[in-house]
Amino acid sequence: MLLTLPDMLTADELRRIREILRGAAWVDGRETAGFQAAAVKNNQQLAPRGDMARALQGIVLAALSRHPTFFSAVLPKRVLPPMFNRYAGDANTYGDHVDQAIRFVPDSNQRLRTDISCTLFFSAPEEYDGGELVMEDAFGGRRVKLPAGHLVLYPSTTVHRVEPVTRGERLASFFWIESMVRSTEQRRLLYDLDMALMKLRERDPDSDVSVTLSGTYHNLLRLWADT
Ligand code: NI
Repeated sequence: MLLTLPDMLTADELRRIREILRGAAWVDGRETAGFQAAAVKNNQQLAPRGDMARALQGIVLAALSRHPTFFSAVLPKRVLPPMFNRYAGDANTYGDHVDQAIRFVPDSNQRLRTDISCTLFFSAPEEYDGGELVMEDAFGGRRVKLPAGHLVLYPSTTVHRVEPVTRGERLASFFWIESMVRSTEQRRLLYDLDMALMKLRERDPDSDVSVTLSGTYHNLLRLWADT
């Protein structure tokens, strides 16, 4: 499922992130791309190690963990340390590709299966032209360009691209999640059930139906999750 989660970052966090990124030494984005993706990738990234990346990762990861529906939407097993990119000038686009299925967790010998791809926008849409994230799905293309501080997540199985940025710069964080629930369809059912349960509890806190449905939610999770 494609899901947008608004207001992941506070205005203060956004300011801090953009301040840090102003002093960034950007490197060629092809360094972290697989063979097919490297052929169509033309952007810049922050070197994934170092104090700057670590400070930014801390802000983003803290925002994810406090968000009220992020956990339910992705059921994370592991999150790859967020990375940061820039589309501007001559390095301004990323053609059609599917993200690599397996990635190595930096500074470890662990591997992570990419189930969910995330983009967290740092630039406001009016600061740049182009730069839409386009996902191909059964209904044609979905074009996403979100306000600064908003996040989009989508199945990593999706063919997607970033349209050329023709004015200004597009700063964002991108990262992958291995979910406890591998199947997108099962994750979707669990998310819908959890959101419906939240509404039900608000409307009727003493509802015995919500006890039964909570049980169903957790028993489905037990059936499908791999911790
Ligand atoms: Ni990608």
